[in-house]
Amino acid sequence: MQTITGTDINKSAELLNSGALVAIPTETVYGLAANALNQDAVLKIFETKGRPTFNPLIVHVHDAKEFLKYAVEVPELVTKLAQSFSPGPITFVLPKKNNIPDIVTGGGDTVALRVPDHPLTLKLLAQLDFPLAAPSANPFGYISPVDARHVKDQLGGKIPYILDGGQCMIGIESTVVTVLSGKVVVYRLGGVSLEDLKDVVGDVELRIHGDANPVSPGQLKSHYAPTIPLKLGRMKDLLIEFASKKVACLTFSQNYFEENIVAESILSPGRDLHIAARNLFTALRKLDNSNAELILAERFPEYGLGLAINDRLERAAAEN
Ligand code: TXA
Ligand code: MG
Repeated sequence: MQTITGTDINKSAELLNSGALVAIPTETVYGLAANALNQDAVLKIFETKGRPTFNPLIVHVHDAKEFLKYAVEVPELVTKLAQSFSPGPITFVLPKKNNIPDIVTGGGDTVALRVPDHPLTLKLLAQLDFPLAAPSANPFGYISPVDARHVKDQLGGKIPYILDGGQCMIGIESTVVTVLSGKVVVYRLGGVSLEDLKDVVGDVELRIHGDANPVSPGQLKSHYAPTIPLKLGRMKDLLIEFASKKVACLTFSQNYFEENIVAESILSPGRDLHIAARNLFTALRKLDNSNAELILAERFPEYGLGLAINDRLERAAAEN
């Protein structure tokens, strides 16, 4: 199959209407989209990604007002969060209505809903009379794409069209939340920080870890993984421990000058965690394509988006 990259929303809509897949830009990462109400179309997503079907997908809608089309109820805390952060990098897990096929939810009775914040994709959603199921547009377990080029490199030949919306401005996936017993529970750290959530709803509960039988497969231990092994820690210590290897360094703001460093990425010289998050996956791809034997990654500060960055780096470092 020939893969075309372009900015044609009508063509994207036409393909999606016919049950084909289209890679779409969002503010977080590129998604691999299909008509969420068409079971056969959604099946193609799992085949193309090599993703296990127990792993549920996020359903993207044009406006938070549409949540009630697909969810049985929308708790007040969700409405409050949606008013603050949607469109934006937050996903809500809600009890599903029957119009959402089982293939989308891994057979479960909840559906994940999100309003992406990207002008092309919002325009596309406005033209469609169905929502879009879309996981990140990468082969299962690999680094998420934040540029049309990344999608083409990995899914080229497997999908007909990539809607090119430029570089993703957030750069890491959405924060996944639900409401249980009147409390906001966070399943996946992402583009909306815990501090921002707490400003709106007070206390939140974290249920991020649990790798044996994950509630939310973004919780799978090994994920977001480069092909070269990645070690996470204090850069000074890592450089001593791996002094005999050719290494690629991923740092927040600092340069290192050891002779065994063959590639490096500094995510934000000005130490801005939003900029660091935006650069993270592109940097990991670059270092993964270097001739290093190991990627050494520095642990980020434990606040704001630093927590989500560390979460991705820990999963990248986890062994299969
Ligand atoms: O930013 C994002 O969320 C991107 C863009 C494309 O929207 N999408 C994305 O999709 O990261 P994916 O499939 O890579 O991750 C979806 C996450 C997974 O951790 C999945 O387990 C969780 O959402 N999820 C989906 N449906 C769920 C459900 N019903 N209950 C719990 N977790 C769910
Ligand atoms: Mg993903």
